[in-house]
Amino acid sequence: MSTLAVLGGPQIAPQGVDETRWPVVEPADVQAVTDTLLSGQLSWMNDTRVPALERQWADYVGADHCLAVNSGTAALHAAVAAAGVGPGDEVLVPALSFLASASCVLHHQGVPVFVDVDPRTFTIDPTQLAQHLTDRTKAIIAVHLHGLPADMDPIRQFARQHDLVVIEDAAQAHAATYNGKRTGSLGDLAAFSIMAGKNLATAGEGGLLTTSSADLRNRADAVKMFGETVGADGHRDYNAHTMGWNYRLSGVVAAFTSTQIERLDGYTAQVQEGARALTKALADVPGVVPPYVPDDRTHVYHHFRVLLDGSVAGLPDGVFRQAVHDSLLAEGIPVGEYQTRPLPGQTLFQQRIGYGGGCPWTCGKSTRSYRQEDYPATLQVIRSSLVVGKRLCMASFRDPDSVERYRDAFTKVLSNIDELREYASTIDYVEPWQRESRLW
Ligand SMILES: Cc1ncc(COP(=O)(O)O)c(C=O)c1O
Repeated sequence: MSTLAVLGGPQIAPQGVDETRWPVVEPADVQAVTDTLLSGQLSWMNDTRVPALERQWADYVGADHCLAVNSGTAALHAAVAAAGVGPGDEVLVPALSFLASASCVLHHQGVPVFVDVDPRTFTIDPTQLAQHLTDRTKAIIAVHLHGLPADMDPIRQFARQHDLVVIEDAAQAHAATYNGKRTGSLGDLAAFSIMAGKNLATAGEGGLLTTSSADLRNRADAVKMFGETVGADGHRDYNAHTMGWNYRLSGVVAAFTSTQIERLDGYTAQVQEGARALTKALADVPGVVPPYVPDDRTHVYHHFRVLLDGSVAGLPDGVFRQAVHDSLLAEGIPVGEYQTRPLPGQTLFQQRIGYGGGCPWTCGKSTRSYRQEDYPATLQVIRSSLVVGKRLCMASFRDPDSVERYRDAFTKVLSNIDELREYASTIDYVEPWQRESRLW
């Protein structure tokens, strides 16, 4: 095995990995977009593409209703509002996720209460829900992080016992399943992002909310549409019944999304194949633990996150992770950190800035404050793991050559433990949450 590139040896993947090919744009997508443009039906008042997309996605996930909106964050906010969250109400949210999983609660004046994650699945730990329950708890946001569904049975059972609404944050988990059912049909409401980097990618930005409750659908619809009620026939009474925004999606974007949905299963299967191949190859590589997938779930690998075990080199996990990170980058393959601090460690929560004047915390008379030290599993996951591929598996895991490059680079770096240790001795280690974000 040659010298590690980080110590001046030759790169194992000088050609790098091509991550530009996502979303895939086929003639059918172009046709759908141009047909929409030429139809002359470009206003929400006469558009037919958004309702068609809503029916198609509801049927795909196995829910009764879908609302198309203009981002995943909008879908989450509309779900939180539909759940009846108001000033001072608390919502349980995993400490490890993207900001929007928690800020959507603030958007409706609620207060996020963070729960640590399961260290193997990286999703909210159902055994820790009870310790955060108060008489103000209203809902749980279960994030299917990186494409693996959260453990929904115990979450739903807990929610039933305490009369809580379950919202799935499925932004990263289109087409994943839990006990044979697709995400989007596993809670009371679900929110998907279809931003161009997601597994179901549109041309820019968008979101999809699903539910099987007509009441929840109608409440979310009012949030999407200025707080008004719009009849099935498009009738509008220009009377806002509640706070609302303009979260409508363009018909052009909807048309592009519909043709993408037709190919989603094919793309998902390709990525799963690449992830399976890499998982198998990494099984024999010391110090690296590929994503864990419990038997009751399927993973769709929005991110392929590996845990790194410093004990194989006699190094602390954080130092080992950083040495492996630097070494893999030097070999020519993209690997990165996903979230460098727990959500409760972000300044928004530390300083409770929100809307100013302490709101929504003070206006909701909430005394909640946040300490990231309360989330040891989340801190350990951040300290000791990396995501493979420049954050998106869909771009490279479909390509067997890229997967082989990942395999070869991991094998080279982790078979050279002595050199890795030598490089590690030059690192002035700082925990990720104590330094400026460093993505690549
Ligand atoms: C877990 C999670 N939730 C919510 C969102 C927000 O989606 P969007 O960027 O479409 O608003 C994202 C995407 O960035 C996400 O990864």
